[in-house]
Amino acid sequence: MKKTPHKVILTEDQMPRQWFNMRSAMKEQPDPMLRPDTLQPVTEADLAPIFCEELARQELDATQAYTDIPEPVLDIYKMYRPSPLIRAYDLEKALGTPARIYFKYEGNNTSGSHKLNSAVPQAYYAKQQGLSGVTTETGAGQWGTALSVACAYFDLSCDVYMVKCSYEQKPFRRAMMNVFGADVTPSPSMTTEAGRKILAENPGTSGSLGCAISEAVESAVGSAGGKRYVLGSVLNQVMLHQSIIGLESKLAMEQLGEYPDVVVGCAGGGSNLGGLIAPFMADKLQGKKNPRIVAVEPASCPSLTRGKYAYDFCDTGKVTPLARMYTLGSGFIPAPNHAGGLRYHGMSPILSKLYHDGYMEAVSYQQTQVFEAAVFFAKHETILPAPESSHAIKGAIDEALKCKETGEEKTILFGLTGTGFFDMTAYENYLSGKMTDYIPTDEDLQKGFDSLPKIPQNENI
Ligand SMILES: Cc1ncc(COP(=O)(O)O)c(C=O)c1O
Repeated sequence: MKKTPHKVILTEDQMPRQWFNMRSAMKEQPDPMLRPDTLQPVTEADLAPIFCEELARQELDATQAYTDIPEPVLDIYKMYRPSPLIRAYDLEKALGTPARIYFKYEGNNTSGSHKLNSAVPQAYYAKQQGLSGVTTETGAGQWGTALSVACAYFDLSCDVYMVKCSYEQKPFRRAMMNVFGADVTPSPSMTTEAGRKILAENPGTSGSLGCAISEAVESAVGSAGGKRYVLGSVLNQVMLHQSIIGLESKLAMEQLGEYPDVVVGCAGGGSNLGGLIAPFMADKLQGKKNPRIVAVEPASCPSLTRGKYAYDFCDTGKVTPLARMYTLGSGFIPAPNHAGGLRYHGMSPILSKLYHDGYMEAVSYQQTQVFEAAVFFAKHETILPAPESSHAIKGAIDEALKCKETGEEKTILFGLTGTGFFDMTAYENYLSGKMTDYIPTDEDLQKGFDSLPKIPQNENI
């Protein structure tokens, strides 16, 4: 029998030339983003001081199914895309599962993760608009690194507010962003009003993505028009750009005569998962196929599995519009956790809606379980995974083990979003037995829920 190759890498000509908008396939749309002052849906004009014009348009456009990827963006994509779809033969063997496990590997670019797929178009549109630079937040540092790479390419300045605990844990991440010319500030900082307020209320805080977002938005809005804010996840525009992951995966699987029974991805703000599942979810929504879609999140920051589906601010300083999403409350500050990129209080409104309507499942794992899966995977598949990505590995392994019990030969696809080279302190902690697990108590969660905006839309949740 002909063996499926170890990997499929599409040719440059086969790489998709358009992004796909999952909202165009949804019968019921996510609730609109609201202005916090009027509680009316935001317009492109409202978003103009924060986002680039084209990105504001993409954010609000629910109907256009396909968007052409601009030629200069395709040019950089071709430096590291198409990315490989890999059959995890050795992992399957080690697990003794009859399942076929595939993963889409997004760590094969210098920045180390899928984040570059959205950093490139966001920097491109900023340049097109004649801006001098962009501001952003970064959790574990993957997004900030990706954005600094993209900004260097398009000759833009890049101001990164990096969650303080990651800044301290990962000096080389910061150094790498500096190599590409970014200016990196630990957040919360004294350089913004939002940072000073958060520090006054909670001086010992190790920071959170929500805090860093407040600072980055404030510094863009205060830049007298020269800069805009860009975000690496959560937003509809980011989901659109990341659809390249799923589109390539589907094409590569078609070449193998495969279609996934289960698609698994880690979920921080939802961008890699949203991108990976985009064409498969469209098939599901249109009744063509029925794959299971599984989101995996850390037990320490369980927005889908323990959050509320409510209108909330996207940041801790409450400077952003309100989005209806699964959230732990913008005031929730998770315990320092090694999967820094998954420490976000909310979730993409698109994924939240799909989860709420029963199209998606979610599970959560403790970080020691995740690192156990990461080390097992590394030994068998020769790739050192990022802690965030390792949540998806753990989810996929558990799906494969279920197949072992039932004898089902399912096809499992998961997203391997990045590499863990800058996460060696976390790996060392795990290997030396120093890593601890943390599950927030109901009281901890309640404190976060208490920070939800008291508006009519949230009355019955
Ligand atoms: C490697 C990696 N994977 C996954 C994520 C989670 O983000 P998202 O849910 O937007 O894909 C991050 C976030 O920083 C990351 O760095």
